[in-house]
Parts: sequence; C-alpha cells; structure tokens
Amino acid sequence: MTTINIKTESGESNIYLGEKLENLRAYLPADRKVVVVTDEHILHHYSQYLQGFQIITIGLGEANKNLQTIESIFAEFVRLEVDRSSFIVAVGGGIVCDVTGFAASTFMRGLPFGFVSTTLLSQVDASVGGKNGVNFQGYKNMVGVFMQPQFVICDVTMFKTLDNREFISGFGEIIKAGAIRNLTLFEYLEANYQRALNYDNEVLEKVIYESVRIKANVVKNDEKEKGERRVLNFGHTFAHSIEKNTGMLHGEAVSIGMVLAARASVKLGLLPIGEVERIEKVLINFKLPVKLSLAKDKIYNALLKDKKREGDNINLVLLNGLGNAVVQKVPITQMEEIIYDLY
Ligand SMILES: NC(=O)c1ccc[n+]([C@@H]2O[C@H](COP(=O)([O-])OP(=O)(O)OC[C@H]3O[C@@H](n4cnc5c(N)ncnc54)[C@H](O)[C@@H]3O)[C@@H](O)[C@H]2O)c1
Ligand SMILES: [Zn+2]
Repeated sequence: MTTINIKTESGESNIYLGEKLENLRAYLPADRKVVVVTDEHILHHYSQYLQGFQIITIGLGEANKNLQTIESIFAEFVRLEVDRSSFIVAVGGGIVCDVTGFAASTFMRGLPFGFVSTTLLSQVDASVGGKNGVNFQGYKNMVGVFMQPQFVICDVTMFKTLDNREFISGFGEIIKAGAIRNLTLFEYLEANYQRALNYDNEVLEKVIYESVRIKANVVKNDEKEKGERRVLNFGHTFAHSIEKNTGMLHGEAVSIGMVLAARASVKLGLLPIGEVERIEKVLINFKLPVKLSLAKDKIYNALLKDKKREGDNINLVLLNGLGNAVVQKVPITQMEEIIYDLY
C-alpha cells in the first residue's frame, strides 16, 4: 500500500492506494456514528463489507447529481440523527463522491467525511483535489464547495466488477496526466497498456500513483484554479461539448479532446506532428476513441459558451512538447480557424 498526502487551504487528505474496502473500519473514528452513502451497483457487489453501517442509497447516473439528491440525503441525515460528531463515508464512483462530499460539507456547516473510491476515473481524478458538488439547470458542477475528504481508499481490486467501458474511460485521464506533466508516465503507458487492460494490480497501482501525484502537486499550488490548475483541463474544453452532444463517457470524450488540443498545439507551432501520432497511438492501444463524430459548429458554439472564456479569448491548454502543458490565451476568432482546420 502507498499513501499520498495532500495539504491545501481547504484541508488535508490522505490517499491510501492499494488499500481494501474490507479494511474501511480501521479508518473510521471508533466512537462516532458513521453513515455510508453509496449506490445500487456497489450494494449489489459489496454489501457484505458494509454490514452494520447506516446506509443511504442515491440514484444512478449523472441525472441524479443534483440538488434534489442533496435534499434527500439531508432528510436521511435528519432521520438518522446525524450531528456534528458523526462521520460520513462515500463508497462509489465520482458521482457518489461528488454528491456525498457536498452534502457532508454543507450539512450543519460541515461534517468530516471520507471516500472509498471505486472507479478508475474517480481514483485518479474525482476523489483527488477537494472539489465536491452537483449539476444545476444543465450546467455541470455549478454548485459546490472545496473541501478535502479526510481519507480516500483506492481499492484497485474493485475494478473487476466495474463495466469494462467505464474502466477503459479512466485511462483517458491517466494518459492526460502523462501528456501534461510526466513523459516517463506516458512512456510507461506506451509500454504497459496490455498489462493495464488485463487488470495487473502492479501496473494499475503504479499509473494511479503517478496520476494522483501529478494532480496533487498541481492542486497544492493552485487549489482554487486561478492559474496552474487549468493544465488539468487539457482536452477538456473540447471534451465537454463532445460529452454533452454525444453521450460519450467522460474519459472517452477527453480522449478525442486531447487529440484535438494536441493538433491545435501543432497548428500554433508548439508540438511536432509526430507527437500527435504518438498520443493517438497510445489512446488507440487503450481502446479509446480518437475520431470525432460531431459537427464542428457544435464544438465551436460550445466554446463560445465555455465557462473558462475570458471576453474575446479562450484559455486553451496546449502541449509545448509532450509532458509539458501550457495555458495560452487564444482569440476566439483564431479558435474558429483552428477548429475548422482540425481534421
Ligand atoms: N470532483 C472532481 O474533481 C471530479 C473530477 C472528475 C470527475 N468528476 C465527476 O465524476 C463523475 C463521474 O465519475 P465516474 O466515472 O466514477 O462515474 P460513476 O460514479 O457514475 O460510476 C460509473 C458507474 O459504475 C458503477 N460503479 C462504480 N464503481 C463500481 C465498481 N467497483 N463495480 C461495479 N460498478 C461500479 C456506478 O454505480 C456507475 O453506474 C462525474 O459526475 C464527474 O463530473 C469529478
Ligand atoms: Zn476530466
């Protein structure tokens, strides 16, 4: 097992990578009421490890990541007589963690909480960094708080029950981590994709460790996303519109978004074309999509509404060489040209 510690303005978090769900009790305060928030899929596979806890179950899917679900969790907290001495644990993927972190951080002005992170995407991304929240009126993660979970247990053996497409989607974020900050991780992924896809625990723990460290370092310097944290959005400016318009999984949309952002980097003179081919190849090896099946005007229109737009410019994350992401202000008019030339 490996421990990664993250200290930020909003708190301190310990990530236990390679730990097991069955050891959860060792991380909980002995003399306090503990409430577990989870979903049906987790209960179906793992209820034997959650016996004896008070359990709140939330609905499946992004449509349930909203304020109604928060309200129903609050109602359950009241019914279960949760108070400031209680401890809340999320057991699930990014949705369960985002929702539970928000409910715990706001109920009675904040209760301590921890996560058992059960998807590859949530282990490398959603449960690291202290962002908790829900969607509002069609806008993703519009309402939320920054607050660190006290602990995050990352049990890599739980991926075996995860839908294979969800598992693969998580590699989109891992490849992103390598592409933006760590060429060695990128090269390791190029060499070890078969073992990773075959659930080799050693390879999984290694690539999750490196990805979490990259995110943790970026977040330590810029928790509230005023500058450096933006590099984590590599591929995401395009991915958000792809995800919304196609129903692809997040990591799949990020995969295509990274190819587009890498090509934009070539167009702006920052990246040799051979490096884009390298990125495409590793994504294809991980069975991730690289080609867009969406009209270019949809992407352009989405960019015009992007939250990160600043007046006539868009903050685009580009690669100034593989392993080195930079944020550059690109005029919207130039973005139009870039997008229409991309494929
Ligand atoms: N807070 C952040 O910084 C951050 C970062 C990235 C993503 N997110 C959020 O994370 C969410 C996506 O998370 P996700 O990809 O984990 O999706 P998810 O939480 O919907 O989980 C995917 C599916 O797998 C099931 N599942 C989870 N673990 C399982 C397991 N071990 N075995 C069997 N089934 C399992 C779930 O029930 C669900 O049906 C999005 O809402 C996104 O906005 C947040
Ligand atoms: Zn992402």
